[in-house]
Amino acid sequence: MECIMIASFILGSLYKECLSVRFQVSSIPSVSVALGSDVLLPCTLTPEKNGEKMEIRWFRFRYQPYVHLYINGKDDYTAQMPQFANRTELLKENITRGIFPLIIRNVTAQDSGEYHCYVESSDHHGMAAVQLQVTAIGTVPVISINNDTISCESRDWNPKPHLTWTDNEGNEINSSMVEVFRNENHLYNILSIIQQPNASYITCTVSNSINHSNDSRQIRELEHSQTSRDMRSRVYVIGASFILICFGCICLLLRSLCKYLLQLDGCTFFFQTSSNNKILE
Ligand SMILES: *[C@@H]1O[C@H](CO)[C@@H](O)[C@H](O)[C@H]1NC(C)=O
Ligand SMILES: *[C@@H]1O[C@H](CO)[C@@H](O)[C@H](O)[C@H]1NC(C)=O
Ligand SMILES: *[C@@H]1O[C@H](CO)[C@@H](O)[C@H](O)[C@H]1NC(C)=O
Ligand SMILES: *[C@@H]1O[C@H](CO)[C@@H](O)[C@H](O)[C@H]1NC(C)=O
Repeated sequence: MECIMIASFILGSLYKECLSVRFQVSSIPSVSVALGSDVLLPCTLTPEKNGEKMEIRWFRFRYQPYVHLYINGKDDYTAQMPQFANRTELLKENITRGIFPLIIRNVTAQDSGEYHCYVESSDHHGMAAVQLQVTAIGTVPVISINNDTISCESRDWNPKPHLTWTDNEGNEINSSMVEVFRNENHLYNILSIIQQPNASYITCTVSNSINHSNDSRQIRELEHSQTSRDMRSRVYVIGASFILICFGCICLLLRSLCKYLLQLDGCTFFFQTSSNNKILE
């Protein structure tokens, strides 16, 4: 009986000891930040534990090169990813309470993705992941009107944008071509080309999950040339009808004038001709 009690006591204290060295590493699922600003990636230990003597490693794809490393009580930049040079800082104000967030300054589109906070003590280790999303609202779209096509272009979006065309009434116009590609800044450019639509007013809207931006254009030339063409043909029809009517009027006038002249001078004329005939005879 005593033996069992001693055994359970030993097991209990061992279990407690085990628990006391165990910890869980946690962060938050995701952080969204605007391009060029600074971001704080949380990393905490539960239960609360002093992290001063631990290894704290922030990494992305591989253990090494890392984003940031704190080891043997200090920061170690020897194998840091060049992309993060001079841009990271591990805040140690609350490290004794197991709270040590990482600051990344002036984030770039390339910084987007998953980060791991790996923490290792002499007898335990744990890890947490956080998703960093760097957002960028691209340039205001620009509509260009060509001979028989219209194009719309916008640069520097993140995450990936999409593009829609709408007409005067807000109805969507199907675009025959939309191209999205990553540019040299790791941001997205978008380009769309459509055939000249019947609409007189057209809007191109580029949007992603964080914002949208658009450009509208009155397709003046199309409308203008159409109306002037209509006007011109109408003028031709009216002109032609006018000429026809005038011609008819002149004909009628000439005929009645002829008749009148014939009636007036008909006798003398007739007399003269007949008398001439008579003379000739
Ligand atoms: C980081 O800072 C150091 C000293 O301030 C400087 O010499 C080095 O060129 C910087 N590196 C980068 C990549 O900015
Ligand atoms: C440390 O903790 C205190 C109290 O919770 C808080 O006010 C402070 O902002 C924390 N510092 C850092 C760098 O997280
Ligand atoms: C932020 O990064 C961009 C490009 O990576 C650079 O052109 C700019 O000077 C940086 N700004 C600061 C304040 O470091
Ligand atoms: C536009 O495309 C959708 C589906 O792709 C189709 O249902 C619709 O009829 C098309 N509209 C025009 C005007 O072509």
